Amino acid sequence: MSRQKIVAGNWKMNKSLQEAKTLVEMIINQVNDFDEVTKIIIPPFPFLDAVNHLISSKANFSLGAQNCHTNAGGAFTGEVSASILKSVGCDYVLVGHSERRQFFKEKEADFILKIKEALKNNIRPVFCIGETIHERKTDNHFKVVTEQLSSVLKEFSVAEFSKFILAYEPVWAIGTGETATAAQAQEMHAYIRNIVTDLYDSNIAAQVSILYGGSCNPQNAQELFKCPDVDGGLIGGASLNADDFCKIIFSF
Ligand code: PGA
Repeated sequence: MSRQKIVAGNWKMNKSLQEAKTLVEMIINQVNDFDEVTKIIIPPFPFLDAVNHLISSKANFSLGAQNCHTNAGGAFTGEVSASILKSVGCDYVLVGHSERRQFFKEKEADFILKIKEALKNNIRPVFCIGETIHERKTDNHFKVVTEQLSSVLKEFSVAEFSKFILAYEPVWAIGTGETATAAQAQEMHAYIRNIVTDLYDSNIAAQVSILYGGSCNPQNAQELFKCPDVDGGLIGGASLNADDFCKIIFSF
């Protein structure tokens, strides 16, 4: 069965408003006709509305947010709810990114609440998982990924899970220039799909898109995307440059 192919650009805490608009316009100019791949732009919060205006009429472009709050709304100074994100056009939100785990001490209980809020607002979660270098070197990577998945997915029905995108991002590859080999990525993606089969069923496992993230770039994207269980990429650094991001999209 054919799964949704996705290339998502996570800009993290980068760019000014004017740079954001220019970057999006350059991306649209290059890839607007290539509509077999869903392109998700994930800028910082203040640029969401402006980016949405640029992409909303374009072929297979979507808007994503880097985070949302666990609560529906109210007195949470400095935070952004899923309903606010929906109101500016977001259809996707990152949850469980390793930087949220590491720097903001977010845990499974937070991810569950955030995903519930996202789903209530018709926003699809891009749920990120992945092991540290220590966990891989001590041969615990399969165990860690299993726990990261099962501790959160146990709270979601098959209907809810059908809205998920998964992103395997080995922490040792994020922003380091060191990419998982295609063989390592394929091995873990196939393993993740098996876990989904165990937790739900083989139909839903065959349908879920699993993205690879971690120093994905124009040089390695094609080999990664050739893997049968790799359905696209979650791109950090290389998404900040229009030519690099578009080359990655064209790697399918
Ligand atoms: P990177 O980041 O491509 O810069 O390694 C990926 C991510 O954090 O999603």
